[in-house]
Amino acid sequence: MELESVRREYKRAELSETDIEKQPILLFEKWMKEALASNPNDATSVALTTIGMDGFPQSRIVLLKNYSDEGFVFFTNYHSQKGRAIENDARVGMHFFWPELERQVRISGLAKKTNKDVSDEYFHSRPFDSQVAAAISGQSTEVANRAFLENKFQELKNELHGKYPERPKNWGGYLVKPVKFEFWQGRENRLHDRIVFEKESDTWEIKRLAP
Ligand SMILES: Cc1cc2nc3c(=O)[nH]c(=O)nc-3n(C[C@H](O)[C@H](O)[C@H](O)COP(=O)(O)O)c2cc1C
Repeated sequence: MELESVRREYKRAELSETDIEKQPILLFEKWMKEALASNPNDATSVALTTIGMDGFPQSRIVLLKNYSDEGFVFFTNYHSQKGRAIENDARVGMHFFWPELERQVRISGLAKKTNKDVSDEYFHSRPFDSQVAAAISGQSTEVANRAFLENKFQELKNELHGKYPERPKNWGGYLVKPVKFEFWQGRENRLHDRIVFEKESDTWEIKRLAP
């Protein structure tokens, strides 16, 4: 199949200045609810982009676990590549793509670690095996083979005798405080709607961009 012939029209909805919320988090909430209704399993997947130690931007998918006026929360290993990148430069991008709704949202923000209680609470809400896996995985470090991981996983399970592991100190949440949002709604003939909210002191400046 020729990739050049892959093409679709976007006709599902529109995003107009007259009916948007003045607070971007309210528009995000509306879109997230609609995304969850249309695709409950993957709506919270978000591409997180960090500025790597080598200067290259690097993206990977994480799962959004909470959002509020304060920002957007995901959980990870603080010693992973993304964790080290964030410690070096707190500027990150978050990019949601909801194809069923013909929508994307881009967020730029500053990431900082959530407090320990937030990390503990979420860590212990995860299934037992996921907690064990997080405890034995030095995320983003090189491993010799699959058996190495499976053995470590089984060893810790044996040691724990059904007790739950402690949250590793290097595993926890990040809160991304947004400074910019871009909401994109696909439209007919590629004349898409793009509305940007940019933080200016305490208010959000709103503008429309050409597609
Ligand atoms: C659907 C999906 C959800 C994921 N959720 C997370 C997550 O919430 N936290 C996380 O650390 N990694 C998650 N990952 C794995 C990351 O994409 C990535 O492989 C890992 O965090 C290591 O990234 P890094 O080496 O850039 O730090 C997820 C991957 C996929 C495909």
